[in-house]
Amino acid sequence: MNRRAAPSTSFTPSNMPNTTSAPGQKQPGGHDANKFMNQLHSIHKPTWAAAAVCVVSLCVVLSCVLCVWKKCLKKKDKDKDKDKKKGKEKSNGGFDTEMDGDYNEPLKDDVDKETELSETEKKEDEKLGRLHFTLDYNFTENTLVVGILQAAELPAMDVGGSSDPYVKLYLLPDKKKKFETKVHRKTLEPNFSETFTFKVPYTELGGKTLVMTVYDFDRFSKHDAIGAVKIPMSGVDFSQSLQEWRDLQKAEKEESERLGDVCLSLRYVPTAGKLTVVILEAKNLKKMDVGGLSDPYVKIHLMQNGKRLKKKKTTIKKNTLNPYYNESFSFEVPCEQIEKVQVAVTVLDYDKIGKNDAIGKVLLGANSTGTEQRHWTDMLANPRRPIAQWHSLQSEDEANALISNKK
Ligand SMILES: *[C@@H]1O[C@H](CO)[C@@H](O)[C@H](O)[C@H]1NC(C)=O
Ligand SMILES: *[C@@H]1O[C@H](CO)[C@@H](O)[C@H](O)[C@H]1NC(C)=O
Ligand SMILES: *[C@@H]1O[C@H](CO)[C@@H](O)[C@H](O)[C@H]1NC(C)=O
Ligand SMILES: *[C@@H]1O[C@H](CO)[C@@H](O)[C@H](O)[C@H]1NC(C)=O
Repeated sequence: MNRRAAPSTSFTPSNMPNTTSAPGQKQPGGHDANKFMNQLHSIHKPTWAAAAVCVVSLCVVLSCVLCVWKKCLKKKDKDKDKDKKKGKEKSNGGFDTEMDGDYNEPLKDDVDKETELSETEKKEDEKLGRLHFTLDYNFTENTLVVGILQAAELPAMDVGGSSDPYVKLYLLPDKKKKFETKVHRKTLEPNFSETFTFKVPYTELGGKTLVMTVYDFDRFSKHDAIGAVKIPMSGVDFSQSLQEWRDLQKAEKEESERLGDVCLSLRYVPTAGKLTVVILEAKNLKKMDVGGLSDPYVKIHLMQNGKRLKKKKTTIKKNTLNPYYNESFSFEVPCEQIEKVQVAVTVLDYDKIGKNDAIGKVLLGANSTGTEQRHWTDMLANPRRPIAQWHSLQSEDEANALISNKK
C-alpha cells in the first residue's frame, strides 16, 4: 500500500499533500499534517487502511483521466491535421515529445497495473506494425520483383479505431516510377498479395534503395504515412529469393518535393452525357516567386489519346498559396466516351510579365494511377453524385509521362 501511495506524490503534489504524506508517516510536514498524524495514530488500522484505499482509488481515477485526456488530445490532433496541414510535421513532433515526457515521468519506477497499462500504450505509440514482403531478381527479364504480401499490427489511424491501409513503393533515387497496392478497408492486418516489377539492369541495382511505405487512405485529407521499410539493394543477396517480415519505421515527410494539393469534385451524369468538374480549393502551393506569394489559377483540359479537346480555367486568386475557388466547369462527354477521356488539372502561377509557371498537375481518368484513378472510378460508380477529393500535385513531367507513356 505504501509503495502505491508514494508515487502519487509526484503525480499531483499540489492537489493532495495530506493524503499522500499520510501513509508515509515519516515526514509530517507542518502543523496540519501533525494533527492529521495524531488523529491517524489514535484511530489505528481500520481507518488507516480506508485512507490507503482512498489513495489507491484516486490514483486509478487519475490515471484513467490521464488516459482519456491523452486519447482526446490525439484525436484532436488528427482532426486538426484534416483541417490544416500546414506545419503538420512540426506540431506533431512537438506533441510527441511533450507527451512522452509528461506522461511517463511520474510513472517511471512504478510497477502498478496502471503503469503497465500506460506503458503498453506507449509502446503501441511507437509500434508502427510490420510488413511481409518478398524480393527477387529475374535475371532473364532484368526485373526486380517485389511481392507485398501482408502487414500486421498496424496502428489505428482513424477515429473508428481502424485504418484503410495501402502500400506505395518505389526505387530511390528514381521517384517517378511508383506502384501502389489496392486499399484495404478497415483493417489492421491487410493481406495485399500483390506483385510489382521494376525494370532495372542488375548492374544498376546496387545503387538503388527500395522504399515501401504503408499509408492510411483518407479521402478528405492528405493520406497519413503509417511507416516505411527501406532496403538498400546493395545489401541484398539475389542468388536466392528473399521473404521477410520487417518492422515499419517512421516514414520521412514526403518522398517527393511537395508542390501542394488541390481539392476538386467530379460528377458524371450518363443520361445527359455531362461531366462536371468543380475546382474547390488548393493548399500549401509551392512558392513560385522568391519573395512573395503566388497568384494561382487552375486550368482544366479535357483530353483523349493525349490530345486536348477542351480547355477551361478558373479566375486568378491574388497573393495566396491557399486559394479558394469553388468554380464549376462542365464538359459534354457521351457515355461511350467517358472511359476513354482524361481530365488534366494544372495549377499555375499567373505572371503579368513572364510566362505563367505551372506549379503542378494531376491527371484523372484513363491511364491515371493511385488516388486519381480511385477518384475517377468512384465518380463512375456513383452517377449524378458529386464526389470531392484532395489530390497531391505532381510535377508536369510526372503527369505528362502518364499521358504519353502508356499509349
Ligand atoms: C523471369 O520471368 C519470366 C517471365 O515472366 C519467367 O518465365 C521466369 O520464370 C522468371 N524467372 C525467374 C527466375 O523467376
Ligand atoms: C492472402 O490472400 C491470398 C489470396 O487472396 C491467399 O492465397 C493467402 O493465403 C492469404 N494469406 C493470408 C495470410 O491470409
Ligand atoms: C491508356 O493506356 C492503354 C495501354 O496501357 C492504351 O491502349 C490507351 O490508349 C491509353 N489511353 C489513353 C487515353 O491514353
Ligand atoms: C460553392 O458554389 C455553389 C454554387 O455556385 C454554392 O451553392 C455553394 O454554396 C458554394 N460552396 C461554398 C462552400 O461556398
